[in-house]
Amino acid sequence: MNIQNYIMYEINSDAFSSGQVGSKIWLCEELERTKWTSNLTYIYGGWYGVTAFLLLSRGKFKVDHIQSFDLDPACEPIADMINENWVWQDWKFKAFTLDCNSYVRGSPDLVINTSTEHFDSMEWFNRIPKGTRVVLQGNNMPHEDHHVHSADLKAFVNSYPITTINYAGQKDFEYPTWKFSRFMIIGVK
Ligand SMILES: C[S@@+](CC[C@H](N)C(=O)[O-])C[C@H]1O[C@@H](n2cnc3c(N)ncnc32)[C@H](O)[C@@H]1O
Repeated sequence: MNIQNYIMYEINSDAFSSGQVGSKIWLCEELERTKWTSNLTYIYGGWYGVTAFLLLSRGKFKVDHIQSFDLDPACEPIADMINENWVWQDWKFKAFTLDCNSYVRGSPDLVINTSTEHFDSMEWFNRIPKGTRVVLQGNNMPHEDHHVHSADLKAFVNSYPITTINYAGQKDFEYPTWKFSRFMIIGVK
């Protein structure tokens, strides 16, 4: 199977749904508002690299390198393909296959995780050194693949011990037959 056919076979179109893309645009907007810059940003549970694609395309958040980590080996070639423009630029972007609940080498100054509900333990968060900046998203969506369910923003915020909270907010998505809320914290662990 060539790479294009492999990608069409593997790709989960939910990654491009309004709830996913809208949440990541919201992340970009709020992260850009902090005026932070980053030498090295890690994205945990980075899936197909859409967060990185949006951040890098918008070009408003100054970041030297983004590395995306996902447990699922199918994600790495897809994320690299979507972000090829930056893979090509001295590895400004690179995806890797990795369990973020295990040791993650390197010293990122920012860790983004928009997949918190999919992680089966808090190990990934506990391993992030204190003082590291973080952007975390979760939601109240009941789903068989979700290990964490946050009833509301307060419950989500209380799940993650953060020293400084720069932003905490909620974005509601309402569709004709269902609705859910996405929660986000931007801060310093
Ligand atoms: C369905 S996706 C992303 C959903 C999320 N709302 C988003 O768009 O970012 C969740 C991803 O988390 C990944 N994941 C779950 N546990 C992980 C772990 N321990 N380490 C790395 N990736 C993990 C899964 O493989 C999957 O690709």
